[in-house]
Amino acid sequence: MKNFINIADIDKKDLREIIDNAKSQKSKRSSLNKSATDPDSSLADKTLIMIFEKPSTRTRLSFELAMKQLGGKILVLNPKESHYGSGDESINDTAKVLSQYADIVMMRTHKHEHFLEFSKHLDIPIINGLTNLSHPCQIMSDIMTFEELKGPIANKKIAWLGDGNNIVYSLIEAAAKFNFELSIASPKQFRPGKKIVEWAKRKNAKILITKDPKEAINLVDCVMTDKWISMGNEINKKKKKKLLKPYQVNKKIMKLAKKDAIFMHCLPASRGEEVTNDVIDGKQSVVWLEALNRIHVQKSIIQWCLK
Ligand code: CP
Ligand code: NVA
Repeated sequence: MKNFINIADIDKKDLREIIDNAKSQKSKRSSLNKSATDPDSSLADKTLIMIFEKPSTRTRLSFELAMKQLGGKILVLNPKESHYGSGDESINDTAKVLSQYADIVMMRTHKHEHFLEFSKHLDIPIINGLTNLSHPCQIMSDIMTFEELKGPIANKKIAWLGDGNNIVYSLIEAAAKFNFELSIASPKQFRPGKKIVEWAKRKNAKILITKDPKEAINLVDCVMTDKWISMGNEINKKKKKKLLKPYQVNKKIMKLAKKDAIFMHCLPASRGEEVTNDVIDGKQSVVWLEALNRIHVQKSIIQWCLK
């Protein structure tokens, strides 16, 4: 059984297959309108259950569209309205029950350990739809988007400015698997965890960690950032924002990247904090394409898990 939990767990060959299949999923739909179903209905008779412990716009809608366009069905379990959310049924028992009802689960949880515990008791595949640790589906969509616009990502340069959060965790794993150069600029307090950086270095990933945003962004092909305050990470917000202020992606700092560099953000954004309006709405921004490509990548991830 194949779970999609973290990029590090998956073979390079499989990750490449997922990206390439997502690209062909997209090209198959080039002449179809938004509401059309795909001609091959390859997920007919398959059901996905989605569980969200935190809010979501893109992940929820793109998984729903992915299943529906491929002829499949979806069920959404709101933890607040379920027994496991109210604490009167163990997550282990809930996992056993869901295994009777569907073919695959996608889950967004607060704690990564909770996700892992749940996955152990499921008899069907599970996809990580974001935890406090990682967000692999987002980074797979970002790789597809990068390659659509700039060609193969291997040996290209990506900069991350800001909080060392769950998105950058998956990005670090991807740097090792897809062989791109990654420079991360964060204040010392908000650097990504040592363990993941050491893992990537053992895998010969080219990773630079610096406190200097100018050093990180110098002549890169792509600049990425994310909200300074992630969901469920609300402590000392004011102090954190102050420390992160020098890492804002604005027009001035974008000038240090390559002239044709693209700007990426997983969204939602806090405009005026980690990114200014002139960048996110500017010519280099590809944020809407990133959101669109989530649909194609979700299809490919689901198909990989069910293969
Ligand atoms: N980027 C992303 O995962 O967005 P949502 O929180 O809206 O799902
Ligand atoms: N780092 C953000 C990503 C949202 C998609 C969060 O976890 O809230």
